[in-house]
Amino acid sequence: MELLRNRPIGIFDSGVGGLTVVKNVCKYLPKEDIIYFGDTARVPYGNKSRATVIRFTHEIMTFMMKQKVKMVVVACNTASSFSLSILKKTYPVPVVGVIDAGVERAIRFSSKGKIGVIGTSSTIFSQAYEKRLAKIAPEYGLISKSCPLFVPLVENKLINDDITYRIAKKYLIPLTKKGIDTLILGCTHYPILKNVIKKIMKDVKLIDSSSAVAKKVKKMLKHMDMETSRRNRKSRIKYYVSDDAKGFCGIAGVFLREKIKAKKVII
Ligand code: DGL
Repeated sequence: MELLRNRPIGIFDSGVGGLTVVKNVCKYLPKEDIIYFGDTARVPYGNKSRATVIRFTHEIMTFMMKQKVKMVVVACNTASSFSLSILKKTYPVPVVGVIDAGVERAIRFSSKGKIGVIGTSSTIFSQAYEKRLAKIAPEYGLISKSCPLFVPLVENKLINDDITYRIAKKYLIPLTKKGIDTLILGCTHYPILKNVIKKIMKDVKLIDSSSAVAKKVKKMLKHMDMETSRRNRKSRIKYYVSDDAKGFCGIAGVFLREKIKAKKVII
């Protein structure tokens, strides 16, 4: 029988953005197999309601259970904000989201105790970051800002474009006036815009939740004694999407810096 520890890690997102998490999981856990699902037929989640996002994530979790994964990483900030606590209670595998990892890292870096978070409209509306911070470090302050145009800018490959810089200034200059020393990039796509964001948030430490969650997954697998015992072959990554794979594979390079193949599935 296949060992539980040698099963793949499931990672899912509303679309292509979760590949920032895949990249970091590969970096910190190079031996683990991965099943990735991008809900490209229904992206974006960032402007959808709680009930809709919860329904979508249950459908994806059912798919993940059929794939016999040993753990699921909810790479999407919007899905983590709305669904994580429910998914954790419903499924028989550990489910990890990006919110906790980002908040925990921000606390470690913030010296003044003033943290900022940027994300999609739904993530900011959910107040998931505020709730988490209030639970683990209530003495810290959080200032949040939604940046809804960042996702389409990245997906249209306008990464270092002047228009992106101008929009970033509009979103972020108000944040620079609030005295934050740490900024959580609370959306899968925002690490891709790090250079532009850094130009405006000069002395502010940027927290990339995708690397924070990968490190957390590594720690958890070790703690649970669930790391793969396979040593003699390269890890396998399978990519699944809910719409035609062409568009997904076209933009995947921006996130992964390599070409991939994906398969369309109906979930
Ligand atoms: N993956 C989403 C997130 O991190 C961004 C894209 C979307 O709106 O679906 O919130």
